[in-house]
Amino acid sequence: MRLDKFLSKATELSRSDAKKVLHRGEITVNDNIVKDGSMHIDVANDEVLWVGEPLSVADGNRYILLYKPDGFECTLKAKEYPIVTDLIAVPEVGNLRIAGRLDVDTTGALLLSDDGAWLHRVTSPKHHQPKRYEITLANPMNADEQALAIKQIANGILLEGDNEKTRPAKLSFVDDTHATLILTEGKYHQVKRMMAYFGNKVIELHRASIGNITLDGLEMGECRFLTADEIKEF
Ligand code: URA
Repeated sequence: MRLDKFLSKATELSRSDAKKVLHRGEITVNDNIVKDGSMHIDVANDEVLWVGEPLSVADGNRYILLYKPDGFECTLKAKEYPIVTDLIAVPEVGNLRIAGRLDVDTTGALLLSDDGAWLHRVTSPKHHQPKRYEITLANPMNADEQALAIKQIANGILLEGDNEKTRPAKLSFVDDTHATLILTEGKYHQVKRMMAYFGNKVIELHRASIGNITLDGLEMGECRFLTADEIKEF
């Protein structure tokens, strides 16, 4: 990898700031000061220091699908619960960021990457990526209540505290306490708040898919790298 690219990946520096740092002689590669950003380095074996501090990046971006279990938090630093990155055994796991967080008690598909532009495409409502949620409700809904909820959710509903309606979404019922909801946006606690709108409570929530990416073949707590085709989907 080119040294200037490596620097901007390993630090918060822009390419032009990385150039200045190089120019000031602050970067050493294997103990030699290097000022030329076009130099190629071996990410796995060369030692790159910035004023004596080691820098590193994983070789290329990582795109990971995790089957999130209940009881894990989607944050970078543990507070009350263990964090999702505890489940991912890759180098530089701290560089991964989460696309579309899930609540501690929600299970299912979670995407993580260290490619900021890609993460933005996954989460941006502009890209309308469908996310399929499987819901277990506390209170049974009869046929009339189900039909009304399906219709209102298809038109969008105004959730408490919001000033815009939810985007049109598709709700369907498996039985009177089990439903599937396909959303193309990700407002805070959206599924739970949408069900609360109908006076109900979500007691189990599972995200089964994001776009065409499903959890097929993964056990809870397992993760895998996305395929090239899956990465291109976003
Ligand atoms: N909506 C919620 O309410 N919770 C989640 O974890 C995801 C979507």
